[in-house]
Amino acid sequence: MDNAFKDIVDKLKDSQSISKEDFAYLLERGDKDDIEYLFAAARDVAEKYFLKEVYLRGLIEFSNYCKNDCYYCGIRCSNRNAERYRLSEEEILSCCDIGAKIGFKTFVLQSGEDPYYTDDRICSIVRKIKIAHPDCAVTLSIGEKSKESYQEFFDYGADRYLLRHETADEEHYSMLHPASMSGARRKQCLFDLKEIGFQVGCGIMVGTPHQTVDHIYEDILFMQELQPHMIGIGPFIPHKDTPFKDEPEGSVDRTLRLLAILRLLFPKVLLPATTALGTADALGREKGILAGANVMMPNLSPSNVREKYLLYDGKICTGEEAAECNACLRARVSRIGYHVADSRGDHPDFV
Ligand code: 5AD
Ligand code: FES
Repeated sequence: MDNAFKDIVDKLKDSQSISKEDFAYLLERGDKDDIEYLFAAARDVAEKYFLKEVYLRGLIEFSNYCKNDCYYCGIRCSNRNAERYRLSEEEILSCCDIGAKIGFKTFVLQSGEDPYYTDDRICSIVRKIKIAHPDCAVTLSIGEKSKESYQEFFDYGADRYLLRHETADEEHYSMLHPASMSGARRKQCLFDLKEIGFQVGCGIMVGTPHQTVDHIYEDILFMQELQPHMIGIGPFIPHKDTPFKDEPEGSVDRTLRLLAILRLLFPKVLLPATTALGTADALGREKGILAGANVMMPNLSPSNVREKYLLYDGKICTGEEAAECNACLRARVSRIGYHVADSRGDHPDFV
Protein backbone atom coordinates (compact mmCIF):
# COMPACT_ATOMS: atom_id res chain seq x y z
CA MET A 1 0.00 0.00 0.00
CA ASP A 2 1.23 3.44 -0.94
CA ASN A 3 -0.24 6.43 0.86
CA ALA A 4 1.39 8.87 -1.54
CA PHE A 5 -0.51 7.21 -4.43
CA LYS A 6 -3.82 7.44 -2.60
CA ASP A 7 -3.19 11.04 -1.55
CA ILE A 8 -2.64 11.98 -5.18
CA VAL A 9 -5.90 10.24 -6.18
CA ASP A 10 -7.80 12.10 -3.43
CA LYS A 11 -6.28 15.43 -4.43
CA LEU A 12 -7.05 14.82 -8.10
CA LYS A 13 -10.64 13.88 -7.29
CA ASP A 14 -11.16 17.01 -5.18
CA SER A 15 -9.39 19.52 -7.41
CA GLN A 16 -9.92 18.03 -10.91
CA SER A 17 -6.31 18.91 -11.66
CA ILE A 18 -2.94 17.18 -11.44
CA SER A 19 0.73 18.16 -11.66
CA LYS A 20 3.04 16.47 -14.14
CA GLU A 21 4.94 14.75 -11.32
CA ASP A 22 1.77 13.39 -9.74
CA PHE A 23 0.50 12.29 -13.13
CA ALA A 24 3.69 10.29 -13.76
CA TYR A 25 3.32 8.76 -10.31
CA LEU A 26 -0.23 7.53 -11.02
CA LEU A 27 0.79 6.11 -14.40
CA GLU A 28 3.92 4.32 -13.26
CA ARG A 29 3.72 3.50 -9.56
CA GLY A 30 1.38 1.78 -7.14
CA ASP A 31 0.44 -1.84 -6.47
CA LYS A 32 -2.79 -3.69 -7.20
CA ASP A 33 -4.62 -2.10 -4.24
CA ASP A 34 -3.52 1.40 -5.15
CA ILE A 35 -4.67 0.99 -8.74
CA GLU A 36 -8.01 -0.39 -7.56
CA TYR A 37 -8.31 2.70 -5.34
CA LEU A 38 -7.80 4.89 -8.43
CA PHE A 39 -10.42 2.92 -10.39
CA ALA A 40 -12.92 3.05 -7.50
CA ALA A 41 -12.53 6.84 -7.31
CA ALA A 42 -13.17 7.08 -11.07
CA ARG A 43 -16.26 4.82 -10.84
CA ASP A 44 -17.55 6.93 -8.00
CA VAL A 45 -17.31 10.14 -10.06
CA ALA A 46 -18.84 8.47 -13.15
CA GLU A 47 -21.74 7.23 -11.05
CA LYS A 48 -22.38 10.69 -9.69
CA TYR A 49 -23.23 12.02 -13.19
CA PHE A 50 -24.22 8.91 -15.13
CA LEU A 51 -25.49 6.49 -12.47
CA LYS A 52 -24.52 3.04 -13.71
CA GLU A 53 -25.55 3.76 -17.26
CA VAL A 54 -23.52 2.92 -20.34
CA TYR A 55 -24.31 4.54 -23.69
CA LEU A 56 -24.15 2.53 -26.91
CA ARG A 57 -23.16 4.14 -30.21
CA GLY A 58 -23.71 2.14 -33.38
CA LEU A 59 -20.56 2.42 -35.48
CA ILE A 60 -20.92 2.34 -39.27
CA GLU A 61 -17.56 2.07 -41.03
CA PHE A 62 -18.76 3.26 -44.42
CA SER A 63 -15.51 3.53 -46.40
CA ASN A 64 -11.94 2.35 -45.90
CA TYR A 65 -10.50 4.50 -48.69
CA CYS A 66 -8.12 7.06 -47.22
CA LYS A 67 -5.96 9.71 -48.80
CA ASN A 68 -3.73 9.92 -45.73
CA ASP A 69 -0.74 7.75 -44.93
CA CYS A 70 -0.52 7.68 -41.12
CA TYR A 71 2.27 5.32 -40.09
CA TYR A 72 0.14 3.42 -37.55
CA CYS A 73 -3.03 2.84 -39.55
CA GLY A 74 -3.99 -0.26 -41.54
CA ILE A 75 -6.10 1.67 -44.06
CA ARG A 76 -3.31 4.15 -44.94
CA CYS A 77 -3.21 4.86 -48.67
CA SER A 78 0.11 3.03 -49.17
CA ASN A 79 -1.30 -0.25 -47.95
CA ARG A 80 -1.83 -2.12 -51.22
CA ASN A 81 -3.07 -5.18 -49.29
CA ALA A 82 -6.14 -3.40 -47.97
CA GLU A 83 -9.21 -4.40 -49.96
CA ARG A 84 -11.08 -1.16 -50.42
CA TYR A 85 -14.86 -0.70 -50.21
CA ARG A 86 -17.48 2.02 -50.03
CA LEU A 87 -21.06 1.77 -48.78
CA SER A 88 -23.81 3.43 -50.78
CA GLU A 89 -26.23 5.89 -49.22
CA GLU A 90 -28.88 3.16 -49.22
CA GLU A 91 -26.58 0.72 -47.44
CA ILE A 92 -25.73 3.30 -44.77
CA LEU A 93 -29.40 4.11 -44.24
CA SER A 94 -30.27 0.45 -43.91
CA CYS A 95 -27.56 0.04 -41.25
CA CYS A 96 -29.26 2.84 -39.32
CA ASP A 97 -32.65 1.17 -39.67
CA ILE A 98 -31.20 -2.03 -38.25
CA GLY A 99 -29.50 -0.06 -35.47
CA ALA A 100 -32.68 1.81 -34.56
CA LYS A 101 -34.57 -1.51 -34.32
CA ILE A 102 -32.11 -2.81 -31.75
CA GLY A 103 -32.34 0.36 -29.71
CA PHE A 104 -29.39 2.53 -30.72
CA LYS A 105 -29.94 6.27 -30.39
CA THR A 106 -26.62 7.33 -31.88
CA PHE A 107 -25.08 6.46 -35.24
CA VAL A 108 -21.39 7.09 -35.74
CA LEU A 109 -20.46 7.38 -39.41
CA GLN A 110 -16.75 6.70 -39.71
CA SER A 111 -14.46 6.42 -42.74
CA GLY A 112 -10.99 7.13 -43.98
CA GLU A 113 -10.50 10.55 -45.57
CA ASP A 114 -12.28 9.56 -48.77
CA PRO A 115 -12.84 12.35 -51.34
CA TYR A 116 -15.59 10.31 -53.03
CA TYR A 117 -17.90 11.44 -50.22
CA THR A 118 -18.18 15.10 -51.12
CA ASP A 119 -19.79 17.53 -48.70
CA ASP A 120 -23.02 17.21 -50.69
CA ARG A 121 -23.04 13.44 -50.35
CA ILE A 122 -22.32 13.59 -46.60
CA CYS A 123 -25.02 16.23 -46.06
CA SER A 124 -27.55 14.18 -47.99
CA ILE A 125 -26.80 11.08 -45.90
CA VAL A 126 -26.97 13.02 -42.63
CA ARG A 127 -30.30 14.63 -43.55
CA LYS A 128 -31.86 11.32 -44.57
CA ILE A 129 -30.80 9.64 -41.34
CA LYS A 130 -32.20 12.51 -39.28
CA ILE A 131 -35.52 12.37 -41.17
CA ALA A 132 -35.80 8.60 -40.72
CA HIS A 133 -34.68 8.68 -37.07
CA PRO A 134 -35.42 12.12 -35.61
CA ASP A 135 -34.81 10.93 -32.05
CA CYS A 136 -31.28 9.81 -32.85
CA ALA A 137 -27.96 11.65 -32.85
CA VAL A 138 -25.65 11.51 -35.85
CA THR A 139 -21.91 11.57 -35.21
CA LEU A 140 -19.41 12.06 -38.00
CA SER A 141 -15.85 10.75 -37.87
CA ILE A 142 -14.48 11.50 -41.32
CA GLY A 143 -11.33 13.47 -40.65
CA GLU A 144 -10.00 16.94 -41.36
CA LYS A 145 -12.21 19.32 -43.37
CA SER A 146 -12.54 23.08 -43.77
CA LYS A 147 -14.59 25.03 -41.25
CA GLU A 148 -17.10 25.71 -44.04
CA SER A 149 -17.58 22.00 -44.63
CA TYR A 150 -18.03 21.33 -40.92
CA GLN A 151 -20.60 24.14 -40.78
CA GLU A 152 -22.55 22.53 -43.64
CA PHE A 153 -22.57 19.13 -41.94
CA PHE A 154 -23.88 20.82 -38.80
CA ASP A 155 -26.55 22.75 -40.73
CA TYR A 156 -27.74 19.49 -42.27
CA GLY A 157 -28.23 17.99 -38.83
CA ALA A 158 -25.01 16.33 -37.69
CA ASP A 159 -24.83 16.52 -33.90
CA ARG A 160 -21.36 15.35 -32.98
CA TYR A 161 -17.90 14.94 -34.46
CA LEU A 162 -15.04 12.65 -33.48
CA LEU A 163 -11.51 13.55 -34.49
CA ARG A 164 -8.70 12.20 -32.36
CA HIS A 165 -5.83 14.66 -32.11
CA GLU A 166 -3.52 11.57 -31.76
CA THR A 167 -0.87 13.55 -29.85
CA ALA A 168 -0.71 17.19 -28.78
CA ASP A 169 3.06 17.33 -29.20
CA GLU A 170 4.04 18.59 -32.65
CA GLU A 171 7.32 16.66 -32.76
CA HIS A 172 5.64 13.42 -31.66
CA TYR A 173 2.89 14.09 -34.21
CA SER A 174 5.54 14.20 -36.94
CA MET A 175 6.83 10.78 -35.86
CA LEU A 176 3.39 9.25 -36.42
CA HIS A 177 2.39 11.05 -39.62
CA PRO A 178 3.94 12.02 -42.95
CA ALA A 179 5.19 15.59 -43.38
CA SER A 180 2.03 16.53 -45.30
CA MET A 181 0.03 16.36 -42.06
CA SER A 182 0.26 18.75 -39.14
CA GLY A 183 -0.75 18.56 -35.51
CA ALA A 184 -1.56 22.26 -35.52
CA ARG A 185 -4.09 21.80 -38.32
CA ARG A 186 -5.64 18.86 -36.47
CA LYS A 187 -6.08 20.99 -33.35
CA GLN A 188 -7.53 23.86 -35.39
CA CYS A 189 -10.18 21.48 -36.77
CA LEU A 190 -11.20 20.57 -33.24
CA PHE A 191 -11.53 24.22 -32.19
CA ASP A 192 -13.54 24.94 -35.37
CA LEU A 193 -15.89 22.04 -34.65
CA LYS A 194 -16.40 23.23 -31.11
CA GLU A 195 -17.09 26.79 -32.18
CA ILE A 196 -19.72 25.63 -34.68
CA GLY A 197 -21.60 23.88 -31.91
CA PHE A 198 -20.80 20.20 -32.34
CA GLN A 199 -20.34 17.92 -29.39
CA VAL A 200 -16.71 17.14 -30.02
CA GLY A 201 -14.52 14.16 -29.29
CA CYS A 202 -10.72 14.20 -29.35
CA GLY A 203 -8.35 11.48 -28.20
CA ILE A 204 -5.12 9.57 -28.46
CA MET A 205 -3.71 6.08 -28.71
CA VAL A 206 -1.82 4.86 -25.67
CA GLY A 207 1.65 3.48 -26.35
CA THR A 208 2.30 4.76 -29.86
CA PRO A 209 5.98 4.63 -30.82
CA HIS A 210 8.08 7.31 -29.06
CA GLN A 211 5.22 8.35 -26.75
CA THR A 212 6.42 9.49 -23.31
CA VAL A 213 4.60 10.35 -20.09
CA ASP A 214 5.39 14.00 -20.84
CA HIS A 215 3.56 13.69 -24.15
CA ILE A 216 0.46 12.32 -22.45
CA TYR A 217 0.62 15.17 -19.94
CA GLU A 218 0.69 17.59 -22.89
CA ASP A 219 -2.41 15.81 -24.20
CA ILE A 220 -4.12 16.52 -20.90
CA LEU A 221 -3.18 20.21 -21.07
CA PHE A 222 -4.58 20.35 -24.61
CA MET A 223 -7.81 18.68 -23.51
CA GLN A 224 -8.13 21.15 -20.64
CA GLU A 225 -7.95 23.91 -23.22
CA LEU A 226 -10.34 22.29 -25.72
CA GLN A 227 -12.81 20.99 -23.13
CA PRO A 228 -14.06 18.17 -25.38
CA HIS A 229 -17.38 16.42 -24.75
CA MET A 230 -15.83 13.04 -25.44
CA ILE A 231 -12.32 11.58 -25.16
CA GLY A 232 -11.52 8.40 -27.07
CA ILE A 233 -8.46 6.46 -25.97
CA GLY A 234 -7.30 2.94 -26.70
CA PRO A 235 -4.01 1.08 -26.85
CA PHE A 236 -1.92 1.31 -30.01
CA ILE A 237 -2.00 -2.07 -31.75
CA PRO A 238 0.42 -2.72 -34.63
CA HIS A 239 -0.88 -3.55 -38.10
CA LYS A 240 1.21 -5.93 -40.20
CA ASP A 241 1.18 -3.78 -43.36
CA THR A 242 2.35 -0.53 -41.78
CA PRO A 243 5.75 0.98 -40.92
CA PHE A 244 4.94 0.30 -37.25
CA LYS A 245 4.41 -3.44 -37.77
CA ASP A 246 7.23 -4.43 -35.39
CA GLU A 247 6.46 -1.85 -32.70
CA PRO A 248 5.16 -3.12 -29.35
CA GLU A 249 1.47 -2.92 -28.48
CA GLY A 250 0.34 -0.21 -26.06
CA SER A 251 -0.22 -1.26 -22.46
CA VAL A 252 -3.73 -2.14 -21.29
CA ASP A 253 -2.77 -1.26 -17.71
CA ARG A 254 -1.63 2.20 -18.76
CA THR A 255 -4.79 2.72 -20.85
CA LEU A 256 -6.99 1.83 -17.86
CA ARG A 257 -5.08 4.13 -15.51
CA LEU A 258 -5.38 6.94 -18.04
CA LEU A 259 -9.13 6.35 -18.41
CA ALA A 260 -9.52 6.65 -14.65
CA ILE A 261 -7.39 9.81 -14.48
CA LEU A 262 -9.40 11.37 -17.33
CA ARG A 263 -12.65 10.57 -15.53
CA LEU A 264 -11.32 12.36 -12.42
CA LEU A 265 -10.08 15.34 -14.46
CA PHE A 266 -13.22 15.59 -16.61
CA PRO A 267 -16.07 14.25 -14.45
CA LYS A 268 -18.84 14.68 -17.04
CA VAL A 269 -16.94 13.68 -20.16
CA LEU A 270 -18.11 10.80 -22.37
CA LEU A 271 -15.42 8.17 -22.21
CA PRO A 272 -15.61 5.11 -24.45
CA ALA A 273 -14.25 1.69 -23.59
CA THR A 274 -12.92 1.23 -27.11
CA THR A 275 -12.77 -1.69 -29.50
CA ALA A 276 -8.96 -1.46 -29.42
CA LEU A 277 -9.10 -1.97 -25.64
CA GLY A 278 -11.38 -4.98 -26.22
CA THR A 279 -8.93 -6.29 -28.80
CA ALA A 280 -5.84 -5.98 -26.60
CA ASP A 281 -7.62 -7.71 -23.70
CA ALA A 282 -10.67 -9.98 -24.00
CA LEU A 283 -12.21 -8.23 -20.97
CA GLY A 284 -10.71 -4.82 -21.81
CA ARG A 285 -14.01 -3.05 -22.36
CA GLU A 286 -15.44 -4.29 -19.06
CA LYS A 287 -12.25 -3.22 -17.31
CA GLY A 288 -12.61 0.16 -19.02
CA ILE A 289 -16.12 0.67 -17.61
CA LEU A 290 -14.82 -0.34 -14.19
CA ALA A 291 -12.10 2.31 -14.57
CA GLY A 292 -14.62 5.10 -15.27
CA ALA A 293 -15.58 4.74 -18.94
CA ASN A 294 -19.28 5.05 -19.85
CA VAL A 295 -19.64 4.50 -23.60
CA MET A 296 -19.30 1.48 -25.91
CA MET A 297 -19.40 1.43 -29.68
CA PRO A 298 -20.87 -1.77 -31.08
CA ASN A 299 -20.12 -2.40 -34.73
CA LEU A 300 -23.10 -1.76 -37.03
CA SER A 301 -21.25 -2.15 -40.32
CA PRO A 302 -22.56 -4.81 -42.74
CA SER A 303 -20.75 -8.06 -41.91
CA ASN A 304 -19.32 -8.45 -45.43
CA VAL A 305 -17.15 -5.32 -45.03
CA ARG A 306 -16.10 -5.68 -41.41
CA GLU A 307 -12.91 -7.58 -42.01
CA LYS A 308 -11.86 -4.85 -44.45
CA TYR A 309 -11.98 -1.98 -41.96
CA LEU A 310 -8.85 -3.03 -40.12
CA LEU A 311 -6.95 -0.18 -38.53
CA TYR A 312 -4.90 -2.72 -36.53
CA ASP A 313 -4.37 -6.50 -36.38
CA GLY A 314 -6.69 -8.85 -34.53
CA LYS A 315 -9.69 -6.49 -34.38
CA ILE A 316 -12.66 -8.08 -32.60
CA CYS A 317 -16.25 -8.28 -33.90
CA THR A 318 -15.33 -8.73 -37.57
CA GLY A 319 -17.29 -12.00 -37.83
CA GLU A 320 -20.39 -10.90 -35.95
CA GLU A 321 -23.70 -9.41 -37.10
CA ALA A 322 -25.06 -6.16 -35.65
CA ALA A 323 -27.56 -8.01 -33.49
CA GLU A 324 -24.82 -10.24 -32.10
CA CYS A 325 -22.59 -7.33 -31.05
CA ASN A 326 -25.60 -5.64 -29.52
CA ALA A 327 -26.55 -8.70 -27.47
CA CYS A 328 -22.93 -9.37 -26.56
CA LEU A 329 -22.34 -5.85 -25.28
CA ARG A 330 -25.58 -5.70 -23.34
CA ALA A 331 -24.64 -8.97 -21.62
CA ARG A 332 -21.13 -7.71 -20.88
CA VAL A 333 -22.50 -4.49 -19.39
CA SER A 334 -25.03 -6.22 -17.15
CA ARG A 335 -22.53 -8.86 -16.03
CA ILE A 336 -20.51 -6.12 -14.33
CA GLY A 337 -23.54 -4.51 -12.69
CA TYR A 338 -24.16 -1.71 -15.17
CA HIS A 339 -26.99 -1.25 -17.68
CA VAL A 340 -27.42 0.18 -21.16
CA ALA A 341 -29.11 3.59 -21.23
CA ASP A 342 -32.16 4.27 -23.41
CA SER A 343 -31.37 7.93 -23.97
CA ARG A 344 -29.25 9.55 -26.69
CA GLY A 345 -26.50 10.10 -24.17
CA ASP A 346 -25.59 13.70 -24.89
CA HIS A 347 -22.96 15.34 -22.72
CA PRO A 348 -24.64 16.45 -19.44
CA ASP A 349 -23.86 20.13 -20.13
CA PHE A 350 -25.15 19.98 -23.69
CA VAL A 351 -28.70 21.27 -24.11
N1 5AD B 1 -4.01 0.90 -33.14
C1 5AD B 1 -4.94 1.47 -32.36
N2 5AD B 1 -5.73 2.48 -32.75
C2 5AD B 1 -5.58 2.92 -34.03
N3 5AD B 1 -6.20 3.92 -34.68
C3 5AD B 1 -5.68 3.96 -35.94
N4 5AD B 1 -4.75 3.01 -36.10
C4 5AD B 1 -4.66 2.36 -34.91
C5 5AD B 1 -3.84 1.30 -34.42
N5 5AD B 1 -2.91 0.73 -35.20
C6 5AD B 1 -7.13 4.84 -34.05
C7 5AD B 1 -6.66 6.29 -34.28
C8 5AD B 1 -7.81 6.88 -35.09
C9 5AD B 1 -8.97 6.00 -34.68
C10 5AD B 1 -10.11 6.00 -35.63
O1 5AD B 1 -8.40 4.72 -34.60
O2 5AD B 1 -6.52 6.97 -33.04
O3 5AD B 1 -8.06 8.24 -34.81
FE1 FES C 1 -19.18 -7.64 -31.07
FE2 FES C 1 -19.04 -8.75 -28.54
S1 FES C 1 -19.32 -6.69 -29.14
S2 FES C 1 -19.18 -9.75 -30.51
